[in-house]
Amino acid sequence: NIEAADRLEFPIPAGVYAERVVSVKHYTDRLFSFRITRPQSFRFRSGEFVMIGLPNAEKPIFRAYSIASPNWDEELEFFSIKVPDGPLTQHLQKIKPGDIVLMRQKATGTLVLDALTPARRLYMISTGTGIAPFASLVRDPETYEKFEQIILTHTCRDRAELTYGEELIEATRNDPLIGELTEGRLLHFASTTREPSPHMGRITTLIENGELFRTLGTEPFDPVNDRVMICGSMAMLKDVKALAEKAGLKEGSNAEPADFVVERAFVG
Ligand code: A2P
Repeated sequence: NIEAADRLEFPIPAGVYAERVVSVKHYTDRLFSFRITRPQSFRFRSGEFVMIGLPNAEKPIFRAYSIASPNWDEELEFFSIKVPDGPLTQHLQKIKPGDIVLMRQKATGTLVLDALTPARRLYMISTGTGIAPFASLVRDPETYEKFEQIILTHTCRDRAELTYGEELIEATRNDPLIGELTEGRLLHFASTTREPSPHMGRITTLIENGELFRTLGTEPFDPVNDRVMICGSMAMLKDVKALAEKAGLKEGSNAEPADFVVERAFVG
């Protein structure tokens, strides 16, 4: 993919793809998304993450990024935080179309459909950039084969941070490939914690006081009907996981599928 014209200063490490940035979209001064070309041989399961870096050092710094695009997409999409002094994101936030991004060749992760046993309903609970793996899963037809109802929750500090998720849901519902599958089955619940909006509060609070379920017209988590995927900060994972366990749900993995799975939303 690299042409002589790029004249990269450092060699591309072994086992790493060098891909070109296709587009970049900035949402706020803390959040942006970008799309890169997809290597022909690259395979992943929706919900997995890869290691992303930049060709700006002999030994580039890599950080884990959930793939936000579905596995049928010919490009790869990522949703990132911008940390002013973050070792990777202080540079990554400046990428432009045509630039080179490095990606290690193996995708992995626990937020995959294979790690959950069958049930009626799938809750995807996210905060901040933790929505990224779910952006992949809500666009994967397999999600709709496995579950009757898919609920994506996204909680952010303010309304501007919810934009990525709102655009995702709108685009998914209007998608020629999977729009029809989502009809009446894909529900979106958004809340903010630091700016007024129709639903306010941490998702943990809204689960505990029942506002989430009342708004959706569903019942509190139960191990017979519900499966849950969780992605956010360490503190958020711990707190939502405790609520899932309190409801009697068991944690699953690739090796031993069960009722809920967790993955931290990576920053740096
Ligand atoms: P809060 O504004 O009360 O901190 P961040 O951008 O810092 O990762 O936060 C994303 C969202 O996650 C914010 O709305 C934040 O709420 C919320 N949050 C932070 N910690 C937790 C937690 N332990 N449980 C649930 N939500 C949390």
